[in-house]
Order: sequence, then C-alpha cells, then structure tokens
Amino acid sequence: MSNESNLINSKINPLSLFEEWFEDAKKSEINDPNAMNLATISNDGKPSSRIVLLKSYDEQGFIFFTNSNSKKGKSMEDNTNVALNFHWKSLQKQIRIEGTVSIIVKAEADEYYNTRPLGSRIGAWASKQSEELDNRHSLLNRVDEYEKKFKNTNISRPPHWNGYLVNPSLIEFWQDMPFRLHDRVEFRKQENKWISRKLYP
Ligand SMILES: Cc1cc2nc3c(=O)[nH]c(=O)nc-3n(C[C@H](O)[C@H](O)[C@H](O)COP(=O)(O)O)c2cc1C
Repeated sequence: MSNESNLINSKINPLSLFEEWFEDAKKSEINDPNAMNLATISNDGKPSSRIVLLKSYDEQGFIFFTNSNSKKGKSMEDNTNVALNFHWKSLQKQIRIEGTVSIIVKAEADEYYNTRPLGSRIGAWASKQSEELDNRHSLLNRVDEYEKKFKNTNISRPPHWNGYLVNPSLIEFWQDMPFRLHDRVEFRKQENKWISRKLYP
C-alpha cells in the first residue's frame, strides 16, 4: 500500500534526520519554521505549554531564549524535565523531543543577544514577561525608560534573559500516511547511543 522508500529511515542519526526535515520546513512553511511548542512542569506538577523559537541546535541539543523570571523560566528552574514539539503543517510532519533543560553559558547568550535588533534588545529589558500588566502605556513607558538609559551606550544582555539548551533523551519522528496509518520512529538515548524503534500510529 505504501511505498517503503517513503518511510522514515530508522537507521540514521536523529539529529541528521531533524536537520533534513527542518531544512524542508524552512522551504515550505509560510513563516516561523523554527517555532516549537515548549512544555514545562511547575513545582506543583502542573503542565504548561507555549511556542518559542529554536535558535540553534547540534548534538548537544536545542537552544531557545527566554526570560528566566517568566512562568516557563520559573517552571524550568523547579523542574528541568521539558518537552518540545514541532508540527510542520506544510509537510504533515511532527517531531517530539523530550529531555532536560539547562541555561547556556553567559558568553553564548551575550553573543546571540548582541545580534538582535535594537528594539528587541530594549524589549528584553522592558518586558517583565508573564507578570500582570495594568495597561499598554506601562509597557511603552518602560521601553522609553530603557531607550533613555541605554542611549549612546552599549546595551548589555539583561541577566534574566537567557538561552536554554534542551538536551534530548527521546526524539520521535511522525509523518502522515494514507488512512491514518502514520509512520512513527522513536529514538531513545541509551548510554550515549541512539536506539530506534518503530511505533504503531
Ligand atoms: C511564533 C511565536 C514565537 C515565540 N517565540 C518566543 C521565544 O523565542 N521566547 C519567548 O520567551 N517567548 C516566545 N513567544 C511567546 C511565548 O509563546 C509566550 O507567550 C511567552 O514566552 C510567555 O510564556 P510563559 O508565560 O509561559 O513564560 C513566542 C510566541 C509565538 C506565537
């Protein structure tokens, strides 16, 4: 029924397969092919999820940036178990990642922060991410304040704005197939080696 050559290659390194699919997504998604769902668990065991942008990845894992004082920042401090999910509608593909998260070294976060547009760098200072905002003026006033503060000076990365690395222990690839007989391959890291198995859809 299905052409075997279209099935997911379970012998390949999952990071290479991630790269292959991500490169395809860059060509076919209308925007934000690097958007991924990040699921976290709070200290009282409640899950929460939201979209963040993948900024880089390699064998070490997947990096995104956020405010450490935010809801997700606090959850990741309390519980380092997280999950990521990419769903590329244009490809009818999904990648699920589970692992543990850690804050990347300051110098790397500085490096990325310094490549961001001025407005985004100011925004990182102005936004008390996930705190209650009484009205938009308060936010815009804070933007003004920081614009003045950093006028003609170098804007340093706010200490609460950090890069996070998700070190994967599980990566699952899912692709749509006819009659919902979808194709799934799960890779689990065992003693630093990736072991794969196919899963029923
Ligand atoms: C396409 C898209 C990309 C986003 N990228 C980021 C990001 O890279 N970092 C971030 O902190 N928030 C990002 N957000 C906002 C988050 O989804 C979320 O609203 C915010 O981080 C607050 O989440 P929290 O209250 O759970 O901490 C993005 C939202 C969307 C829709």
